[in-house]
Amino acid sequence: MTAGSPRGFHIPWVAFFGRTLAEYLAMFAIDLDELRRGSTLDCPSGPDSFVAEAREAGCDVLGCDPLYALDPDALEAGARANVNDCLAAIESQEGALVFADYAAFRRSKLEALDRFLDDYRRHRESYVAASLPRLPFGERSFDRVLGANFLFAYAHASHGGLYEGSEFDLDFHLRSVEAMARVARSEIRLVPMGSFSPPPRPHDFREPVAAHLRGLGFRVHFEPGRLDSGLGAFDDVLIARR
Ligand SMILES: C[S@@+](CC[C@H](N)C(=O)[O-])C[C@H]1O[C@@H](n2cnc3c(N)ncnc32)[C@H](O)[C@@H]1O
Repeated sequence: MTAGSPRGFHIPWVAFFGRTLAEYLAMFAIDLDELRRGSTLDCPSGPDSFVAEAREAGCDVLGCDPLYALDPDALEAGARANVNDCLAAIESQEGALVFADYAAFRRSKLEALDRFLDDYRRHRESYVAASLPRLPFGERSFDRVLGANFLFAYAHASHGGLYEGSEFDLDFHLRSVEAMARVARSEIRLVPMGSFSPPPRPHDFREPVAAHLRGLGFRVHFEPGRLDSGLGAFDDVLIARR
């Protein structure tokens, strides 16, 4: 995020918007060799091509999202409209997010969507319907849990999120990370950690969530992310390890 807009980037719905494997590696400051070690839950996964590409690269990955309750035809219709609406929202709020290469960002969203839709038809077993703050998995069933661009991003704008609703409040975040902690054997990584509204600053929920994870027995630190996400400052990743 930059101070280019007085308001920051806002959106009135939860976007079904996804990313590629390359974007995930950059965003979570993790490399492929590390990702190949142990199992990974992508929570939520949206129309990411991360699951398809990571599986192809030899990783043990499962995606979850509330919309995976839909069959492929229903999901495809909604997903294409949603991604296009999100890109239109970004383009209409010029300056609210500033990308080094917006054309590449836009292209990667559309590529991720196509790849995801194809994989969702062919590998339904990789996609499980689930809605935070509950996760339908056993205790410590994944080595790591990755959480991108739902928690923190969809907090109300007054707390640093990009959302106009207020249902994803701090209590929702704490219950959601508890669910992630329950299913994570060794590690949880969360992004974004910065506010979408100016001035550039840490997200309001960053420290309370870190403290909550420490209370659950995790060691928590922050590392700089490497993604051109449009959020300039505080674009780092929370890493919690048992
Ligand atoms: C912007 S996408 C993030 C997708 C992906 N992690 C990424 O970074 O590209 C946000 C996702 O949150 C999902 N979502 C909405 N409500 C949710 C909930 N209660 N629990 C988990 N995911 C939810 C939406 O369906 C959507 O796919």
